[in-house]
Amino acid sequence: MTRRIGAGSLVIATHNAGKLKEIAALLGPHGVNCLSAGSLGLPEPAETGTTFVENALIKARASAQASGIVSLADDSGLSVAALDGRPGVCTADWAERQWFEGKPGRDWYMAMGKVEGLLCEQGPETPRDAWFSCVLALAWPDGETAVYEGRVDGSLTWPPRGKLGFGYDPVFVPTGREVTFAELDPEEKHRISHRADAFAKLVADQFS
Ligand code: IMP
Repeated sequence: MTRRIGAGSLVIATHNAGKLKEIAALLGPHGVNCLSAGSLGLPEPAETGTTFVENALIKARASAQASGIVSLADDSGLSVAALDGRPGVCTADWAERQWFEGKPGRDWYMAMGKVEGLLCEQGPETPRDAWFSCVLALAWPDGETAVYEGRVDGSLTWPPRGKLGFGYDPVFVPTGREVTFAELDPEEKHRISHRADAFAKLVADQFS
């Protein structure tokens, strides 16, 4: 049986305030008090893994070791079947721009265009199947870990459609729908997303 977090403190190994808020809202009802790695001054480790699981474990282990408290980290991204799973762990990197609109930042239109360009190079019959993954990793200070993997399948469309969501949402049409993630009501997206899938697995294992 998986080791349980139980009621108590859990460090969320992210420096992203939005992610912390979202995760705290999901786990609060289960008696978990979420602390952020950022507010504890924990360093951000380099994400040197080649899979979402490796990167989530790197972040969770670093946080558990530095804080002495059980920690949760996530790693997510888009994989495209015809591109052998790329961009995968490089999902955010494909949007990296030295100078975007006058300042360093991420350009999601450029990233979506890069994926589309690579698919076009393979010809019009190339399958457009893709999936978003979300891996949640728990790590205890003594080294024990648990991993939960979520996924949502779909296909890529072009040009991008919709103004909701973020990242690659405007080109991702989830299986069984005709709209992109960026056209879907956010509550609906949160019900069917890779993150929802991973959290449902974590909650079922940890709190049922
Ligand atoms: P990370 O897990 O914060 O490293 O995020 C990886 C990248 O994957 C994000 O910057 C997004 O571009 C992409 N990504 C993850 N989840 C989603 C999603 O739900 N919609 C669109 N893009 C996503």
